[in-house]
Amino acid sequence: MLIFLLLILLSCTIHHVSTTNHPQPPLTMDPSELQTLYTIMETLSSDRKWRTDYPNPCKPSSSWVGIECKPGVIDSHLHVTRLDFGTTPNPICKNTATFPSQIFQLPYLQSIFFFQCFTHTKTTISISLPKNKSPPSLLQLSLRSNPTLIGSIPSQLFSALTSLQILTVSGSKISGVITPEILNLRSLIHLDLSYNQLTGPIPDELSDLGNLIGLDLSYNSLSGQVPRTIGQLGMLQKLDLSSNMLSGKIPDSIEKLSSLVFMALSNNRFHGKLPVGLGKLKGLEYLIMDNNPMSIELPTEFGELSKLQELRLANSGYSGEIPGSFSRLSNLTTLSLQNNRLTGTIPVGIANLSHIYHLNLSRNWLSGEIPFDSRFLKRLGKNLDLSENNELCLNPLQAIDSAKLGVGVCNRSRNARVGDSSSPLKTSEGCVIRMHLFIVFVVLGLLENSNIHLFYYYYY
Ligand SMILES: *[C@@H]1O[C@H](CO)[C@@H](O)[C@H](O)[C@H]1NC(C)=O
Ligand SMILES: *[C@@H]1O[C@H](CO)[C@@H](O)[C@H](O)[C@H]1NC(C)=O
Ligand SMILES: *[C@@H]1O[C@H](CO)[C@@H](O)[C@H](O)[C@H]1NC(C)=O
Ligand SMILES: *[C@@H]1O[C@H](CO)[C@@H](O)[C@H](O)[C@H]1NC(C)=O
Repeated sequence: MLIFLLLILLSCTIHHVSTTNHPQPPLTMDPSELQTLYTIMETLSSDRKWRTDYPNPCKPSSSWVGIECKPGVIDSHLHVTRLDFGTTPNPICKNTATFPSQIFQLPYLQSIFFFQCFTHTKTTISISLPKNKSPPSLLQLSLRSNPTLIGSIPSQLFSALTSLQILTVSGSKISGVITPEILNLRSLIHLDLSYNQLTGPIPDELSDLGNLIGLDLSYNSLSGQVPRTIGQLGMLQKLDLSSNMLSGKIPDSIEKLSSLVFMALSNNRFHGKLPVGLGKLKGLEYLIMDNNPMSIELPTEFGELSKLQELRLANSGYSGEIPGSFSRLSNLTTLSLQNNRLTGTIPVGIANLSHIYHLNLSRNWLSGEIPFDSRFLKRLGKNLDLSENNELCLNPLQAIDSAKLGVGVCNRSRNARVGDSSSPLKTSEGCVIRMHLFIVFVVLGLLENSNIHLFYYYYY
């Protein structure tokens, strides 16, 4: 929806762009460029009779929404610089639309957008470059949600379109490997190949794309380890490798990605120790790492990521206690630790996380009293899940919340809690009090010569 609105917005600016500052009309198109444009339009869309309805499609007053033109610098023609397809008001692709290989013969083309364009007829990304001329200095190629786009990404695309800054081929059925030739795309800022069927490793050569800000390879079948050279991508703000078959350790070099804001590594086969320097990623706001067979203790380093808003580590075989350092994550809104093997008590400091609104600790081996007061419980409501931790229990003063939370009430005397509702005691402390009371009752029982067991059952 957002993309759709954006496209409309962008499309609406076309006429302004094409009319600025050029005093000598009438400009026309180069005849061979015009013929190429018609061929492309007819390959893709039957919305209109392109040739007859638009005899001069670059002329500002008589072009369609979805085409952008600019006057040439060295000639007096108007040239196509941008083509958008697939959402109204742009031309809609017909069911028989196939990838127009001639599109790279438009010499001044800078941006191409195909959204839900190839949906019925199988087609591949094919490139037919102009003979004896250099290919267009394309800045942006975006192919989104094209389910019948199959085959591999031709290496030719990497070697010919070296000025690309944005390359998106997502939501298609692109298969094969990411070839090393990708290193030619040195100007690339955003690379999104998500939701395809890519296989093989992430090539080391990807690390040569030193200008990358966004890298999204999620939802493919990539395997092998994350290349150690990934640390060279110092500009990277978003790294999404989730839902692949990547394995091994997460390389230590990841600590060099100092611009990182978003990192998603979920649904892979990562395991073993996390990089010690992980805490150096001071800008990290989202760390999404569910579903990996990590099988390590939950590292305290996470507590150094002070900007974190979401920390998701569910289903990953983490053991040990929840580190007390987590209570320093003051901006945390979501903490997902469910389905691990965590033991010990919930750190009291978790109750201090004032922005948290989603906390899932279910299916662990946590024990002791839940350190949350009624206000905290009320604030999180259904977004708090503590279920299936057999040893967790709730302060008797909050027994009313017990059924809702699916945990039992702690077995101890009400007397111990009088005037104390904000900082609950740890189980060990609770035990001591229980023991003291027990002794008192025994003494009382002996003194009054009454039945000790009566007191016992009454208070426990
Ligand atoms: C928490 O978020 C606020 C607002 O986004 C920001 O100003 C603040 O610096 C953040 N705190 C930390 C510790 O990063
Ligand atoms: C929780 O916050 C209060 C007030 O800000 C502070 O005094 C207390 O030490 C904090 N507790 C923990 C365990 O961080
Ligand atoms: C917590 O995680 C469990 C187990 O994955 C899931 O079934 C439950 O819906 C989650 N609860 C919340 C509140 O997100
Ligand atoms: C509380 O005590 C009862 C009876 O002794 C026991 O059955 C129950 O499991 C205990 N609950 C907890 C949470 O320890």
